[in-house]
Formats: sequence, C-alpha cells, structure tokens
Amino acid sequence: MSVALTGLISCKKAVEVAVDDEEIQAYMSEEETLKLAMKRTSRDTRRLANALKSRDWIEIEMWANELKQGIGVSCVNLYIKNHPGVSGEFLILSDRFYNASNRLILSCKKRDVEIAEAQFGKMIKSCETCHEGYKKKDNNSDDK
Ligand code: HEC
Repeated sequence: MSVALTGLISCKKAVEVAVDDEEIQAYMSEEETLKLAMKRTSRDTRRLANALKSRDWIEIEMWANELKQGIGVSCVNLYIKNHPGVSGEFLILSDRFYNASNRLILSCKKRDVEIAEAQFGKMIKSCETCHEGYKKKDNNSDDK
C-alpha cells in the first residue's frame, strides 16, 4: 500500500488514509472526508505552535511539513474535487497557505526564530481568511 511506503509518521498516515482509503470513502461522503482531514491537520497546528514555543526545529519542520501536505495539498484538492468551478480566490488562498508553510520550513534550516514566527503567523492568518470565505457557518469547531 502506498501509505506504508511514505515512511512518515502516523498523523500524516492518518490523513492519507482518510483521503486515500477507498473503503472509508465508500461509507463517507467526500465532505465528511474533508472535515476529518481538516480536523486532523488542526491537531498538527497545535503541535507546531508548541514546537515553535520550545524552538524545537526538528519538530517545527516536521509539523509544518505535515500541514503543507495535509492542508496545502490533500484538503485543498478534496475541496476542489467537491466544488468544481471553485473561485480563483480559493486557489489564491490555498497558495498563500502553501507558501507560508513552505517558508516556515525553509526558516528551520536557518534556525531563524523571527522568520519562523512571522511565517507561522501568516500561515494561521491564511487558515482564518479561507475559513471566513469558504467554511460553512454552521461548522462550529474549537479551532480556527
Ligand atoms: C484554502 C482554504 C483553507 C485553508 C488554507 C484552511 N482551511 Fe480549514 N477548512 C476549509 C474549508 C472549505 C472547510 C470546510 C469543510 C467542510 O465542512 O466542508 C474547512 C474546515 C476546517 C475545520 C473544521 C472541520 C470540521 O469539523 O468541520 C478545521 C478544524 C480546519 N478547517 C482547520 C484548519 C487549519 C488549522 C488550517 C490552517 C493551519 C486550515 N484549516 C486552513 C478551507 C481551508
């Protein structure tokens, strides 16, 4: 199975399984799958915030990568699949998220706290901006 070959940590696997597993998909609408994937990635966001606090560069890089893949790729692709003809704005917001997480990952190589925190802030902001426009209002959640 392709998921096993990625050799990544369990959380990433969880997202990939939620997204890839045909058996799960058969019982779950794509909308449900997207929600689940978003929920999982929001856990990673908390882990990333904690890693930033303790300046743990290995962990920062790891969780930022999870998010980049999980939200920047999997969730966004699922959403686009569920909403054909989604606006260009959504794509721009997705890009913004992807770029911020990417820059955060790059800042880990330089161990630059200032850049890391600034990019983390931008990344979180892009979560919020996208939710304001595209997340249904009845979707209450404890996270942004
Ligand atoms: C480019 C757009 C976009 C970005 C960026 C984005 N999201 Fe989302 N997110 C959505 C959409 C759309 C939904 C609504 C999915 C649905 O209910 O159909 C959603 C839903 C959620 C949910 C609710 C899931 C539920 O239970 O209903 C959480 C939690 C979440 N996102 C977390 C995050 C976090 C954390 C980030 C940033 C680290 C983020 N999202 C970035 C578009 C985005």
